[in-house]
Amino acid sequence: MRVIITESADHVAHIAADCVCEALAPGQDCVLGLATGSTPVRLYGELIRRHHAGAVSFARATSFNLDEYVGLAPDHPQSYRAFMNRELFDHVDIDPSRTHVPDGLADPADEAQRYEQAISDAGGIDLQVLGIGRNGHIGFNEPTSSLASRTRLKTLTPSTIEANSRFFGPGETPPRLAITMGIGTILDARRVLLLATGRAKAPAVRNAVEGPLSAMVPASALQWHNDAVILVDRDAASLLQQVEYYEHVENEARRLAAEQCHG
Ligand code: PGA
Repeated sequence: MRVIITESADHVAHIAADCVCEALAPGQDCVLGLATGSTPVRLYGELIRRHHAGAVSFARATSFNLDEYVGLAPDHPQSYRAFMNRELFDHVDIDPSRTHVPDGLADPADEAQRYEQAISDAGGIDLQVLGIGRNGHIGFNEPTSSLASRTRLKTLTPSTIEANSRFFGPGETPPRLAITMGIGTILDARRVLLLATGRAKAPAVRNAVEGPLSAMVPASALQWHNDAVILVDRDAASLLQQVEYYEHVENEARRLAAEQCHG
């Protein structure tokens, strides 16, 4: 795992945007795995800014989102489809027909199978962006999810329902079920980029990076991935024990890159 610790949430967004832009390099097709939640919003804002500045195009991109609430129509303001349209797709040159979010109104078992097939038909995911829940979940793979799981129906934990209820109005019941890519699906991505900011995420980041590989901490499965980047701000990194080592690795990488440039 490569752990990059930056000074602020804005730096996280900036470095994450660099990674996404690298994947979207001109002249090549790219399959992005995308995430919802508050963490990637700054990243999407930065990508929109770069797109408007002519620095990046999504014309050859295909996208697959991690998850969707069961029972919400795509045009429900709190659906993840609506979130993605609002926060990214409506502002860049991505072909809407190449953006994929699970259908929250379809039969969940059929939809899960169809979604896995669509990812595979697209050639697999090149870069998967992830957030992390306070309980260590990735996508909606709650603790005890199988580390080999594929896209499927998941029952959300009360803590996740509580965390998400802030987005729903007083009369609305927040969804209790979701369709989510599985941990195995996520691990199939060629590269994964997990973003975490803020002190509330520090325990989850510590457990994911430095704890044992465990279904109790779904994000710890990224220890099994051979190109996983964990990109965090100082607050989210505040409980990590090996900070000096992670910084040393990044300094060495910069030194080597500079030597190569000058050599
Ligand atoms: P957040 O959610 O970015 O809103 O904190 C992350 C997640 O639950 O995966």
